[in-house]
Amino acid sequence: MKKIALIATLLVSPLALASGDPESGQDLYDNTEFSRSINGEMRDDVTCATCHQPSFYTRKDRLASSFKNLEQAWVQGCNDTMNVGWFPEEVTDVATYLNRKYYHFDE
Ligand code: HEC
Repeated sequence: MKKIALIATLLVSPLALASGDPESGQDLYDNTEFSRSINGEMRDDVTCATCHQPSFYTRKDRLASSFKNLEQAWVQGCNDTMNVGWFPEEVTDVATYLNRKYYHFDE
């Protein structure tokens, strides 16, 4: 029995390392507020959803092309541009959340 559990762990862990925690990602996505000028008005309660409706992530000509691209180009890109301040693990969590909910790329 122990042996089977060990083999299962070995098989599963590379996948678990590649992606993040979608629950933490959703919490970060919904609740992280940052400062940004929106339509010429400086606000300090901006979230990702201020600019992005859910339909943005499922539109035909969406930009992300793989999980890595979603994580490293787009979530990381908006994190940098907006000075959100997420750590790399947090960017991975948010990318995992968006991927499970909308994109469905292989992780
Ligand atoms: C001030 C507006 C704004 C905010 C706030 C914002 N973004 Fe973006 N985001 C953009 C723009 C502009 C693009 C590029 C869209 C384009 O070029 O068509 C983009 C693109 C993206 C994409 C790629 C979408 C696709 O087509 O596949 C993702 C993913 C994304 N943003 C995630 C985030 C996350 C996560 C946050 C929260 C930290 C965030 N964005 C906050 C403006 C914003």
